[in-house]
Amino acid sequence: MPSFHIETVGCQMNVLDSELIASGLMRIGLTPAEGMRDADVILFNTCSIRQHAEDKIYSALGRLKHWKERTPHGVLGVLGCMAQKDQTLIFRRAPHVDLVLGPGQLEQLPGAVQTLLERKSERRETEPTLLVSLARLQQKHADVVDSFRLYDPIRLAETRQRRFQALVRIMFGCDKFCSYCIVPSVRGPEQSRSPHEILDEVRMLADQGTLEITLIGQTVNSYRFKEGERTTRLADLLAMISDVDGIRRIRFVTNYPRGMDDDLLQAVRDLPKVGKHIHVPAQSGSDAVLKRMKRQYTAAEYRELVDRIYGTIPDSSITSDFIVGFCGETDAEFNETVDLVRYGRFKNSFIFKYSERRGTKSAELYPDDVPESVKKQRNNELLAVQDAISLDLNRRFLGRRVEILVEGPSGMGTPSEGNENQKQLTGRTPCDRVVVFDGDDSLIGRFAEIDITDVAPFTLIGHAQPD
Ligand code: 5AD
Ligand code: SF4
Repeated sequence: MPSFHIETVGCQMNVLDSELIASGLMRIGLTPAEGMRDADVILFNTCSIRQHAEDKIYSALGRLKHWKERTPHGVLGVLGCMAQKDQTLIFRRAPHVDLVLGPGQLEQLPGAVQTLLERKSERRETEPTLLVSLARLQQKHADVVDSFRLYDPIRLAETRQRRFQALVRIMFGCDKFCSYCIVPSVRGPEQSRSPHEILDEVRMLADQGTLEITLIGQTVNSYRFKEGERTTRLADLLAMISDVDGIRRIRFVTNYPRGMDDDLLQAVRDLPKVGKHIHVPAQSGSDAVLKRMKRQYTAAEYRELVDRIYGTIPDSSITSDFIVGFCGETDAEFNETVDLVRYGRFKNSFIFKYSERRGTKSAELYPDDVPESVKKQRNNELLAVQDAISLDLNRRFLGRRVEILVEGPSGMGTPSEGNENQKQLTGRTPCDRVVVFDGDDSLIGRFAEIDITDVAPFTLIGHAQPD
């Protein structure tokens, strides 16, 4: 039986796509390989959001030239955003690649892999590379919807990293066209899935033992599905999913600062199963930079949103994304971002150095003129400010008891001294804080009460309460 290995980088969309790809391949009889080099089929699910992510894929593909020579029947494929954006370039730079397939065409993957394996086992290696042509997302809007519809509901529980947690896509694509971002041009226009489909999928996942659902999309708070007179929005979805038996926790990412309406915040507050955590990227604290980024809000509006979230949802946490060193960013503009991070009191922030992407508005309009050394220094400075805030917020948990869903062994999951059955385990609070504690494997996939005794910027440390 041929085996496969999938390397996944990038966002949760890719994590979910990889699970669906694994499901598709297992359904046609392939098995997961022990490791990458033991596999007959190696697939890279790629990300284009920053240049660095792309460079790493090209290096990894280069390293697989020898594997390809040693494994003549082997299939090497590139999927995801890079595949959508640079199909011809990938074949040119890495001619040993057999297959390049964008995120809108994943339902074609099992068939394409099967064909390639068959041709190669018949030693028809001189055949021209199988090139599955990509329909342009923009021009084939309807096809893309159908393609996703075919693809999304196929879920095999064993393809998930943890059976008790699952991602559910509620929308595809993005219409915001922030000037730096490649996503809208590779993932296509914004489309919301029907609530019936989403609910069917959630019920199926609940039957498979899923406790925690994370709803994903590029801008989930823009979710809107119109049927006759009725429009379903994210707040409605959260309520509908709350009613599904077996589901104990619901999360949703990512939000866009505009359109974070009160009904959504109230739903998060009032629905006990919904995690009290909002990820809402600000990107910058400077109005001038936000304007160049084509974000459709001001720093003052973002601050007002922060106030509204903390004011509406007690004990909530907010997380954000920031880009430093965007085109033309001055010291004064950067300092406005530092001020916003201080104001926002984020649980944590994901901070990125601007990376120019060919085909975006900012690449076309503005020079990438902030030197790398300055980007790095701003990155470090903002991180230091954020870390101090994260630690300070975590200190407030000292002496408190929190409920977590236990996810598994922590990175340092060694047995603790004196008790071989006890490991360091990790889980998350409803406000998305990571908790580590000593416990045994039987707790994994269950809820536990933890007394917090120590803190670090990214973790709470504590003891489990006996049942
Ligand atoms: N350069 C750096 N960071 C980027 N992001 C998106 N595009 C770029 C880019 N060109 C960041 C944004 C976004 C996160 C997922 O990635 O902060 O919220
Ligand atoms: Fe990119 Fe902006 Fe859409 Fe997010 S909202 S995916 S940053 S274009």
